[in-house]
Amino acid sequence: MDHFVIVGRNRLSGKVNISGAKNAAVAIIPATLASNGICTIENLPNIEDVSNYTLALKKMGASCKFLDKSTLQIDARKVKSTLLSSEMLKDMRASYYLIGALLGRLGHAQVPLPGGCNFGSRPIDQHIKGFEALGAKVVIEHGLIKVTADRLVGSNIYLDMASVGATINIMLAAVHAEGVTTIENAAKEPHIVDCANFLNMCGAGIKGAGTDIIRIVGTNHLKGCTYAIIPDQIEAGTYMISSAITGGDVTVCNVIPKHMDSLTAKLIEMGCDVRDGDDWIRVKADRQLNAANVKTLYYPGFPTDLQPQMTALLACASGTSFVTESVFPNRFQYVDQLMRLGVKIKIDGRMAVVEGPARLTGADVIAADLRAGAALVMAALAAAGVTKISNTHYIDRGYEGLEYKLSSLGANIRRLTTGDLSSVVEV
Ligand code: EPU
Repeated sequence: MDHFVIVGRNRLSGKVNISGAKNAAVAIIPATLASNGICTIENLPNIEDVSNYTLALKKMGASCKFLDKSTLQIDARKVKSTLLSSEMLKDMRASYYLIGALLGRLGHAQVPLPGGCNFGSRPIDQHIKGFEALGAKVVIEHGLIKVTADRLVGSNIYLDMASVGATINIMLAAVHAEGVTTIENAAKEPHIVDCANFLNMCGAGIKGAGTDIIRIVGTNHLKGCTYAIIPDQIEAGTYMISSAITGGDVTVCNVIPKHMDSLTAKLIEMGCDVRDGDDWIRVKADRQLNAANVKTLYYPGFPTDLQPQMTALLACASGTSFVTESVFPNRFQYVDQLMRLGVKIKIDGRMAVVEGPARLTGADVIAADLRAGAALVMAALAAAGVTKISNTHYIDRGYEGLEYKLSSLGANIRRLTTGDLSSVVEV
């Protein structure tokens, strides 16, 4: 099992390139099942969720060929099987997109209930409500979700909450439904727009993605296409925070600055100097940062996927910060590990009270999930001495080459396997 070993207190500087968006990739790869042609997906991040999804599609009979490290050609025309093992999909939350994609394509799907990041209960009732509204029968038994439909018919679906997963999943099924489907109170995250743009390039009729009403005119023939996915908003945000937490001067390149507005505004409020251009953002932090209050919200609000990393940063700022988590009720489970590094924090329900500036010192910690792991990396970069982070496989699910990118900015970070750990020396 791998570990990250980080010697903190190095000021980061330079440029870092952001990879393609994980949450767009894990929607667009299964979306290729909707197409009757060959799809070439460019700008894919080189992360575990992508390789796991590629393996799953191959098992189902698709031909998947990497043309280079970030370009995948998928021909899903021969897919007939919907039998997937729980073992293969257990770590992938986004396996739920196979339900919508297969339902649209074959009229049936049988997929293990989703795994992925464990930060509390993550129901999929809104996905199921959508499939049923399109005419599907849904049964959950033996840990599997089984969905069947003789035909799918367009419908009007109102989501109880603006769920990213339900919005995309219903879109994936509805592109093949007869007539018109409307999703109201749809989520607006950038990867929803990206998935809709991909499907439209294949010939789908989706309008309104990025607003809270999406209208889908069904069709029974989608062609192949070549499509480049958007840059990863959360990876970009993590590097912006890494600059702020180390008093650094980092330019994140290959980003869409508009997607970063909520974080940019907070960093400026805290005292960072943030500038941007067409596809880059420079974050400079050359003074003691001030506390700020953060509330996570659906896009364009502050993303829940940056909440743990931001909490690490707020721990180093002067004063008391309040962090409110409104998307996932239990997304503060990681704070015990941050406290091992010296973060002063109290949790009260959906709110965290962070007292800063804390003097962080290195320790042995465990990543509980992907973004929790990223928060530990942020704190370790600011901590005096050595931090050893285990469970790096969570971090690998969502960050391409984290240790290489951070090293290129001047961080002292190494990946070690268990056998190498005896060589870690305290400094
Ligand atoms: N919810 C329900 N019922 C549903 C669906 C959602 O109650 O049927 C609730 C959830 O429990 C949560 C809220 O609605 O409280 C929002 O959940 P959403 O469905 O939007 O999240 P998701 O689709 O499970 C995606 C991302 C997450 C990201 C969230 C919020 C993917 C594969 N995952 O999850 O990404 O946190 O949207 O933006 O796109 C990550 O990248 O680390 C990650 C966890």
